[in-house]
Amino acid sequence: MFPILEKRCLAEGIWLMKIHAPRVAQAALPGQFVIVRADERSERIPLTIADFDAAEGSVVIVTQALGVSTRKICALKAGEALTDLAGPLGHPSEFVQLPPEELRKRHYLFIGGGVGTAPVYPQVKWLHEHGVGADVIIGAKNREMLIYTDEMRAVAENLYIATDDGSEGFKGLVTQLLEKLIAEGRHYDECVAIGPMIMMKFVALTTQKYGLKTTVSLNALMVDGTGMCGACRVTVDGHTRFTCVEGPEFDGHQVDFDEAMRRQEMYRTQEQRAAAIAAEREAGHQCKIGLDK
Ligand code: NAD
Ligand code: FES
Repeated sequence: MFPILEKRCLAEGIWLMKIHAPRVAQAALPGQFVIVRADERSERIPLTIADFDAAEGSVVIVTQALGVSTRKICALKAGEALTDLAGPLGHPSEFVQLPPEELRKRHYLFIGGGVGTAPVYPQVKWLHEHGVGADVIIGAKNREMLIYTDEMRAVAENLYIATDDGSEGFKGLVTQLLEKLIAEGRHYDECVAIGPMIMMKFVALTTQKYGLKTTVSLNALMVDGTGMCGACRVTVDGHTRFTCVEGPEFDGHQVDFDEAMRRQEMYRTQEQRAAAIAAEREAGHQCKIGLDK
């Protein structure tokens, strides 16, 4: 069992949980993810690590209550525990392998969209701790849905905020703000984008115009997380890749986002079915929808 040390609401339906997981915390690096289960009957949910502290033995996850299983995770209270937290999984971000002198010459731009802002944080923090400045754009629907702004301000060289409705910062999409920064003469060696698939697709299309290398972190549907089931497959540069063991980060200019989004939609239908079954159970009806009794 993995006790929840702290639980905090970041925005409507978005919860931060600090989990006691010393072995994961000691081995974790930026870019990696964990697979969690709220209880033995829950589905396995992959979550990119939002922070880790080896000394404290803790790992931070940020979950948006969307489907049945994520709602179960978010319903747990501080003092209760997750049944499973497996990790760290996947490859760390490429920059952690770069020699320090090369790394210090590079200027990174990170783009976090909505809940995807949380996993941007450990990457920018790691670079900051290694003497590398990075600019960050955080995008959200409105001021209320912005997360991680204070934490990011403490580690970013420059923090830019974009809201769809203009209630804070730049009014518009992160891609419009990206175009503005480039038009103003800002130079970047690499862009890292984490957020909704549609955002990552359009960030990659935008940066392609400028020949700006772009890395994206794919939150594909996962089942085993070991490269055996194929659930997390995506097409990158025309080849099938497994997000769990070969990702989660890939070259954004090579990812087939349209296919990845179609697969997410397929999954959403299954989630809706599971939600309907859970609602029937809660209402005390015998399940008529199928799947299980
Ligand atoms: P959202 O819909 O509020 O979008 C966040 C920002 O992305 C917007 O403010 C906008 O600036 C930008 N954006 C959205 N659509 C765009 C478009 N067409 N072109 C350019 N920019 C666009 O975000 P949300 O509701 O928090 O998104 C949740 C999604 O993020 C979920 O689908 C979740 O699966 C995903 N997510 C991904 C990761 C990851 O590791 N990749 C991590 C957490 C969450
Ligand atoms: Fe099964 Fe990746 S989750 S292969």
